[in-house]
Amino acid sequence: MKVLIVGSGGREHALAWKIAQDPKVEAIYAAPGSDGLAQVARSTGLAADDLDALAAFASSQSIDLTVVGPEAPLAAGIVDLFKSRGLRIFGPGKAGAQLEASKAFTKGVLIEAGVPTAAYAEFSSAPEARAFARELGFPCVVKADGLAAGKGVVICANAAEADEAVDSMLEGGRFGQAGARIVVEEFLEGEEASFMALSDGSSVLGLASSQDHKAAFDGDSGPNTGGMGAYSPAPVIDEALHQEILETVIEPTVATLAARGIDYRGVLYAGLMIKDGRPQVLEYNVRFGDPECQPLMMRLESSLVDLMEACIDGTLASSEVRWKPGAAVCVVMASAGYPGSYRKGDVISGLEAAASQPAVEVFHAGTARDEQGRWISTGGRVLGVSASGPDVSKAVDRAYEAVSKIRWDGVHYRRDIAHRAVGRIAAGA
Ligand code: AMP
Ligand code: GLY
Repeated sequence: MKVLIVGSGGREHALAWKIAQDPKVEAIYAAPGSDGLAQVARSTGLAADDLDALAAFASSQSIDLTVVGPEAPLAAGIVDLFKSRGLRIFGPGKAGAQLEASKAFTKGVLIEAGVPTAAYAEFSSAPEARAFARELGFPCVVKADGLAAGKGVVICANAAEADEAVDSMLEGGRFGQAGARIVVEEFLEGEEASFMALSDGSSVLGLASSQDHKAAFDGDSGPNTGGMGAYSPAPVIDEALHQEILETVIEPTVATLAARGIDYRGVLYAGLMIKDGRPQVLEYNVRFGDPECQPLMMRLESSLVDLMEACIDGTLASSEVRWKPGAAVCVVMASAGYPGSYRKGDVISGLEAAASQPAVEVFHAGTARDEQGRWISTGGRVLGVSASGPDVSKAVDRAYEAVSKIRWDGVHYRRDIAHRAVGRIAAGA
């Protein structure tokens, strides 16, 4: 079969790498693709948001399965368009993708579904939002309703910070239309974890747990990023909690969407805060997390294509998912300046030496080859150096051993990825 992957980051490289191992798959294309992904997927050069061109390509090339990496094409309705043309595609339609594209929509679904989440209210008027923040007390959280590239959430330590966040979004036009409506919510304490599940519209299947590191610097300090590293499994989610999350979070959410006439098929990714062993939902994403997808793909034993097809066909209830024992870790190597404006065009050395380490895969997120065939940095997040191992400590050691081989001017990465999981195991918890 022929597969088209929409997107070109580390997540898409990991998905393509996994799909390429499936004996059924004879060709993989990526849109747009990249020099790094070209190791496993042919670049089409088509923009990930050019939905008509993507559908035309899938038709003319007889693509059997399209897999959408990022949220923007999902929110723009790529799945609805493909389905209307009889093309098979993995992911939710536009209505379901509101779970990521609108925080107010999500909060409404969560409340209706009885899923635990922070107390909140939504606003388009600044004075009311400011007053509500004071009612909640501090810290509180101010969120732009729409897609804001992961930057639309502000944790406010006091009234002055809340006023500034509210005013910048509602009156200052920060985030544009995405911030014309906001959610103000209670601050939750606890440990964050990611829980991804597959859904075929009625049945769900939980994937292995994972955890990412959003802060730019060690010790969870510095600005928020798209994710500086991730690992799976997340020991904070044991088997009992895994089951509880499925029953109290994922299933009621999919059922509530179904009752609203929304047939949710694809990945449902819950960002959770775990406190005293209980999950509360911080947010939903409607696609695989990046970088969380990278350690997940390293651990996935089952055919990803079969699982995605079961979601499309509505046969997930008779599917199961198998994982390699042990753990996997991804360390993101980023450009100087990321997540702010960052350097580009630096020559990267040591990629081959890193990739030849045992149980290591180097997924490319922002690289290209120059005219001389050298690898250069082109993005904020440049590489996801991923490793598996019999336990998280071994996977961490392997990932950092591979990282130590790779260099470019200004590279930065966190040195403490998976520290919580390693600490828990060391403490015998
Ligand atoms: P979101 O995009 O909604 O996941 O928010 C980004 C990050 O902000 C999360 O990963 C959390 O670290 C933090 N966050 C969001 N909402 C809350 C909340 N209600 N309480 C505490 N932290 C939060
Ligand atoms: N790593 C967080 C995300 O993919 O949203």
